[in-house]
Amino acid sequence: MPCTCCEPPASGDYEGMFDTEWASKEADAYVRDGLEARAERLIAYLLENCTGPLRVLDIGSGAGGVHHELLRRGLADSAVAVEASSAYIAAAREIGERLGQDSQVHYVHGDFTTAAAVIDSAEVVILDRVICCYPHLKELLGASVNKAERYLALSYPRERWWVRLAFGLFNVYLKIKRKDFRTFVHPHSDVHSIAERNGLEPVHAETVGFWQITVYERVSSGSIA
Ligand SMILES: C[S@@+](CC[C@H](N)C(=O)[O-])C[C@H]1O[C@@H](n2cnc3c(N)ncnc32)[C@H](O)[C@@H]1O
Repeated sequence: MPCTCCEPPASGDYEGMFDTEWASKEADAYVRDGLEARAERLIAYLLENCTGPLRVLDIGSGAGGVHHELLRRGLADSAVAVEASSAYIAAAREIGERLGQDSQVHYVHGDFTTAAAVIDSAEVVILDRVICCYPHLKELLGASVNKAERYLALSYPRERWWVRLAFGLFNVYLKIKRKDFRTFVHPHSDVHSIAERNGLEPVHAETVGFWQITVYERVSSGSIA
């Protein structure tokens, strides 16, 4: 019989964790300062090596800085953003309206692992700090990889003791605050094997602070859905 106290949660309370207050802080920071260094580096390889316009799928898009910037800088001409937090979708939509991008972005509220069935594939799929917020790597990354026609750009926590410590301490804080949400440092070998098994190979890797950035390119058809 599985030990239920050690089983990962089915998912997490994304509405409670990424609420209106959290989303407006992130949105204000993006409007004031632009993309954080990690997100800027996440899209740098694409900006330097691809010609657009491309279709983008931004999974767990948060306040939407990444797809807003790809549209603003002309690498993308359309984006679908899938987000489990409705406050984040409202914040991203508001910024998009201010930037005159509202007709270019389609927002979908929900868990991507269940929404994936009705989401089209895209030339570029982005998950910026998302797989670390979801317990079931195989389900989330597997569904995401299948949507990547050309590129998959990921940021996720580095496998360093001090990163694990920080994420562990944050989880203790969340537990004390009785939040139904946890963070996860998934093994990089699992990330790579899911991507490679599905026809992608890494073309760029770098680290920024706590974060590993890896950009994969499709080398074989895999199973694009
Ligand atoms: C730490 S935030 C990052 C937001 C944004 N990508 C950024 O880097 O600013 C993680 C986001 O992923 C979303 N998320 C996590 N798992 C998800 C899933 N399975 N489907 C859709 N959204 C998900 C959460 O709701 C949350 O908004």
